[in-house]
Amino acid sequence: AIPELFTVPMPQMPVLRPTLRTTTTDYYDVTTRRVRKEILPGIQTDLLTYDGNFPGATIKARSGRTVVVRQHNELDVATSSHLHGASVTQANDGDPMDTLAPGGVRAYTYPNRQPHASLWYHDHAHHMESENVYRGLHGSYLLTDAVEDKLPLPKGEYDVVIAIRDAHFDAAGQLVYVMDDQQRSTLLVNGAPYPYFQVAARKYRLRLANMSNQRFLGLRLADGSEIVQIGSDGGLLPRPHTTDTLTLSPGERIDAVVDFSRYKVGEKVVLENTIIFAGSAEQVGQVMRFDVVRTAADSSAVPAVLRSLPALPTPTNERTVVMKMEEGVAHPKGFMDGKVYDPARVDASIRFGASEVWTVTNANARVPHNFHMHLVQFRVLERNGKPPAPGEAGLKDTVIVAAGETVKLQATFDSYRGSYVYHCHMLDHSAMGMMATMKIS
Ligand code: C2O
Ligand code: CU
Repeated sequence: AIPELFTVPMPQMPVLRPTLRTTTTDYYDVTTRRVRKEILPGIQTDLLTYDGNFPGATIKARSGRTVVVRQHNELDVATSSHLHGASVTQANDGDPMDTLAPGGVRAYTYPNRQPHASLWYHDHAHHMESENVYRGLHGSYLLTDAVEDKLPLPKGEYDVVIAIRDAHFDAAGQLVYVMDDQQRSTLLVNGAPYPYFQVAARKYRLRLANMSNQRFLGLRLADGSEIVQIGSDGGLLPRPHTTDTLTLSPGERIDAVVDFSRYKVGEKVVLENTIIFAGSAEQVGQVMRFDVVRTAADSSAVPAVLRSLPALPTPTNERTVVMKMEEGVAHPKGFMDGKVYDPARVDASIRFGASEVWTVTNANARVPHNFHMHLVQFRVLERNGKPPAPGEAGLKDTVIVAAGETVKLQATFDSYRGSYVYHCHMLDHSAMGMMATMKIS
């Protein structure tokens, strides 16, 4: 059964409190553990969590200040904590093979030597990541800087994380993990099914994140009202982009400003999902509802110019990547360039300092993919030979490569040397092997 729509308030994840702060560094302690929690009304669901939170608490970080997260693993499975979108050394990347055994403790250091961005963290233990993330190991990491602070965008309580994912509950209200996204037909927002969110009649910054394993989202206000996209994976866009639908594949983030002052107090507007690839419109066609309950002063604004991105360097190398998944077999394999992921193999050798153009093709006729690189924020140069849409004109770490599509991107490898993975972020696909290793040296 589908949980009742819009009967529970949207939770806001707590902000993680440092255990120690020094002049340069914020230290956190986080424990992965199994808990039972109420997700569906009146039912306790078994979850894998960071500190008992579902999703994990939000980490607030500042460019130039180091964050150290000491992970304590109290689960009976290995974990690997990956900060998605971050530029970090190999030892701190949360590589699929570099896991933390049950009972172990391990510190991950995030130098935050990169501009503001709405990042997120999630489990990456090879062959377990898909199920571990599905069962709850995901959370937000908001990195801010002075460039972003100076802008008059909505702040404080008007700057809100909205992390969306799907799930499949059995009759007893337990999460079922099967590699069949048709069945994951309940949408959760910040861990709650189809919640409502009480807003003031003013502008809000919504930090949308798709933390689903497989599901694409097309987010639209039911009345077709405009949504102003201001950011993508790697922070603010150069310029705001006004639209009525935002498309988010698994792992992608979009920062958007919605002006609820167009509604009267008492009005309600549903956030819909227009991409019904798996499940039915009845199940996944609606996401949450915004209830306008009060007025509020609003001095925020969306400036016409949000940031300037550095000019792209002249590319020093080009390569192609072909993504493909077996279709019509019981246990499909996923391929990057015809090969299943093998951690012992280096698939792309990159010279430190290189700026490379990658042409990424989805060779499946019906199955969508997306493409995520660790370590770098890249720029989309072309989609099917045409310039990228305005919403893809900023920094990206994950990009949609729909069935039959080709996306050209440029990435510059001047931060750290070492081995890092790139993969499809439909986590069932990467678990099937659609992942490869690049070595920067
Ligand atoms: Cu979001 Cu390889 O990760
Ligand atoms: Cu894929």
